[in-house]
Formats: sequence, C-alpha cells, structure tokens
Amino acid sequence: MLKIFSGSSNKPLAEKVCKILKTTLSSIELHVFPDGEKRVRVIDSVVGQDCVVIQSTSKPVDENYMELFFIVDALRRSGAKTVTVVIPYLGYQRQDHVFRDGEAVSLGVIIKNLEGLGVGKIISFDLHSIKIPELFNIPVSHLSALPLFAEKIKKMVNGPASRQGGQGSMVDCSLVSPDMGGVRRIKKLSELLENMSYVTIVKNRDLNTGEVSTEKIDGKVFKRAVIVDDMISSGKTIVAAAQLLKDNGAEEISVMATHPVFSEGCSDLLQNSIVSRVLVTDSIDIPKEKQFPKLEVLSIADMIVREIDGR
Ligand code: R5P
Repeated sequence: MLKIFSGSSNKPLAEKVCKILKTTLSSIELHVFPDGEKRVRVIDSVVGQDCVVIQSTSKPVDENYMELFFIVDALRRSGAKTVTVVIPYLGYQRQDHVFRDGEAVSLGVIIKNLEGLGVGKIISFDLHSIKIPELFNIPVSHLSALPLFAEKIKKMVNGPASRQGGQGSMVDCSLVSPDMGGVRRIKKLSELLENMSYVTIVKNRDLNTGEVSTEKIDGKVFKRAVIVDDMISSGKTIVAAAQLLKDNGAEEISVMATHPVFSEGCSDLLQNSIVSRVLVTDSIDIPKEKQFPKLEVLSIADMIVREIDGR
C-alpha cells in the first residue's frame, strides 16, 4: 500500500489523489519558526514502505522546494523503502541551461538536491522542454494534460452551439501555438484530434520589459481558435496571440494551458481580454483571489493515480 504525503503547496490535488485511491493523506507535521525556518516531521510509520510526496514548486518557489527537500529527507531517515516525488509544476524548469555567460543552471541545482536526497522517481507534467527528463539521472515520468484538452475540444466542436449552426466539425476550428517553442505540443494535440489544423505564431519578448509582441502567424485561422500553451504567467503571451488571431478573423477564442502560474495582474488581464474561456489544470492550486469567471479548472489527479498506482 502506497503512503501519500503532501507538502503545503497543493493539498487539494493531493487530497483528490487520495480520494481516487480510497485512502487518506499520511500525517506529517510542518512547523514554521518565527524566523521563517521550517521543521518537518513524519508522523506515520514508513519503514519499508513505498512513499509518494506531492508538491508543486510554484510560488513561493524556494520555500516549496525547501519544504519538499525536508519531507524527502525525513522519509528517507524514517526508513521509507522508496520515495517518488510528484511535482506537477516543476519550478525553475525554464532555467535549464546557460542563456548568457555567467548564469547559474538553476534547474541543475534542483536536480542535484532531489537526487542527492534519494528520490527514486519524479513525476511531472508538461515540462517546458522535452529535454528536461534527460538532465536527471533518475527516472522521470513526463505526463501531459493534452489528452484532457483534446477531450474538451472534441466536446466544444461537436457541442450544441456547433450543431445549431450546422458547422459542428473538427474542420472549422484552429489550434494555435502562441510561440515557436510550442510547435511540438500543438502538433501532438492535432494528432489527438484527427489532425485538426493548427497555426503557429512568431512571438517576441523584450527581455528587459517582459512586453510581448507578435510578428506573424503561419496557417489558416478559422472562426474558432484554441490557443494552447504550457503555462500562463503574466498572461501577455495569450493576450498578444488573441489579438493577432482576432485581426486574422477569429471570432471565438479559447485558451488551454497546463500550468496556471498566474503572476500579479494576470487574472484581471485574462478576464478583461477578448478570450472567451481559459482552461487550466490543478497542477498549481489557484487561490480564491486569483480565480475569475472565465476560468475553468480540469484535474490531473486521475493521471497521477494511473502513474503511481499502475492503473
Ligand atoms: C514560453 O515559452 C512559454 O511557453 C509561455 O508561453 C510563457 O511562459 C507564458 O508567459 P506569459 O504568460 O508571461 O506571457
């Protein structure tokens, strides 16, 4: 029997996983001292047990990583047989190599820590680059929310609104990659949807101001468009892509992104934008104050259970 532990970053997801597995979260004591230091103590006996820790390393990224490291260390010291770590959203994944001379490879530092602490396996979702698993010396299961999005899109294009207009088919909707980095992802989604047509946008980001501009769009834009991305942080990529799609004839624009990073101001930006709905997953727990009417959250709990439990 697996023992499931949760850090404090995404307990709702860990609880959903436990519910599917018909079990409860194993006990852990997390104490924060007045100076901010944390103390972690495993309460349940884990001797000889296979343990799973669920922790998203979203904001506050460093705190969530430290907490995860301490939980893994506590489990190993308490005699756990194996420790699998589910990091639905892997913080620092965008710093996977040196971009400019003198930079640290932050993700490399994280990997050294996880491996050094004795983690046996990592499970994560929609990593920014397909090369990230190769940076680890332990097995990494790289899962994807694309099948969830594909199901949603199938329902969307075959739904009642489409049937009324008599146009309900895969052919009058465009999938959209908002930048060249997402081309592989959009091709994969297209394959899951009977080769639905897709377009790609060439995007530029000013590294000093963070402002996003679009250069051009490749492919035919239909009246309905679905922008698909790995994460939404400032929301600027989505807003710029949506504007370009509208300028090219799109009338109904939906957004699907795995990780709702949602930095300051992002929720308002998306709610007040021309997009009609924003679908994300629960890879990151979204606090109430960042939720907004156009938002819909799909759960990855089932996929995690299939991976850890071999269902
Ligand atoms: C970029 O390469 C990523 O795939 C996302 O498009 C990007 O991280 C989104 O960031 P933002 O919401 O700040 O534009």
